[in-house]
Amino acid sequence: MTQTTKPKIIVSGIQPTGGLHLGNYIGAIRNYVTLQDEGRCFYFLADLHAITQPHVPAELHAQTREMAAALIACGVDPDKAVLFNQARVPAHAELCWLLNGTARMGWLNRMTQWKDKAGKNSEGQSVGLFTYPVLQSADVLLYQATHVPVGEDQKQHIELIRDIANKFHHDFAPDVFTVPEPLIPAIGARIMSLRDGKAKMSKSDPSDMSRINLSDSVDDIASKIKKAKTDPEPLPSDLAGLEGRAEARNLVGIYAALAGTSEADVLRDFGGQGFGSFKPALADLVVSIFAPITARFKELCADTDMLDAILVRGASRAREAAGPTLARTYEALGLVK
Ligand code: TRP
Repeated sequence: MTQTTKPKIIVSGIQPTGGLHLGNYIGAIRNYVTLQDEGRCFYFLADLHAITQPHVPAELHAQTREMAAALIACGVDPDKAVLFNQARVPAHAELCWLLNGTARMGWLNRMTQWKDKAGKNSEGQSVGLFTYPVLQSADVLLYQATHVPVGEDQKQHIELIRDIANKFHHDFAPDVFTVPEPLIPAIGARIMSLRDGKAKMSKSDPSDMSRINLSDSVDDIASKIKKAKTDPEPLPSDLAGLEGRAEARNLVGIYAALAGTSEADVLRDFGGQGFGSFKPALADLVVSIFAPITARFKELCADTDMLDAILVRGASRAREAAGPTLARTYEALGLVK
């Protein structure tokens, strides 16, 4: 009952590491845009998370700005949402430290993102990479978030945030934080590489042909889709026919997500046709959505003063919003009276 009457508070972050691609757009960013009209939104560039792995200090701020431009180009409106970078809001680092007393080693050890990123060399990783999910918890809990829009791969981190909030309430004081829910898009949560239907589309894939970037030209987009890996069979006319055809399924999924229809509908229209006719239709659809975003992105990137001003203003709104929760956390732990 209370859940439905409470206004939604939506919090999400994105790391400012390199360019945005189609997978980020479909999996997260366009939901950011829709959600702006459904509640109070806080969207931030996770620059404090970016330093948990090797980075180039001279490039970090420019990358943060560029990611802000990308979000705005996709439709995030800094007048509707609070848009900022973590580093300008010290409460994120402070609350992370306070929550380090509640998070358990065992919980963090089980995080699959930690295991994937650390690989065989966990001893050589930064402590920050290990406690990355605790900083993520601080990001969300500071603003009393009710909902956290993320991709499927972040589900486990949101579970951890809930565990930390519940343990804190149990150990120290009830109701300091709101226990948030993940918001995972039903369609398009997992956009795969154009070269390998079993690997996620990712900015860290060495092959640029594997992804469509926000900065790609119309020709790049068309040629990447034309060369996307497929199989020789025509498209099936129902979902069962996509079984075992990861690459075909990915392209159909991208089409459905961008056209706002279901995969079944796409197959109803294209079933029986070969990729020779499906790929150009898909390329047209991607271009129709990406071309205006790309143009706006380039314009915005040229105005660094304006981008900085947006981030400074967002940070001041974020600091104000974060203050009360941070103060209550210090009190609950007995650090201040
Ligand atoms: N870890 C997230 C990712 O890799 C980024 C992130 C950092 C985040 N802090 C967050 C997402 C808080 C949601 C809420 O995508």
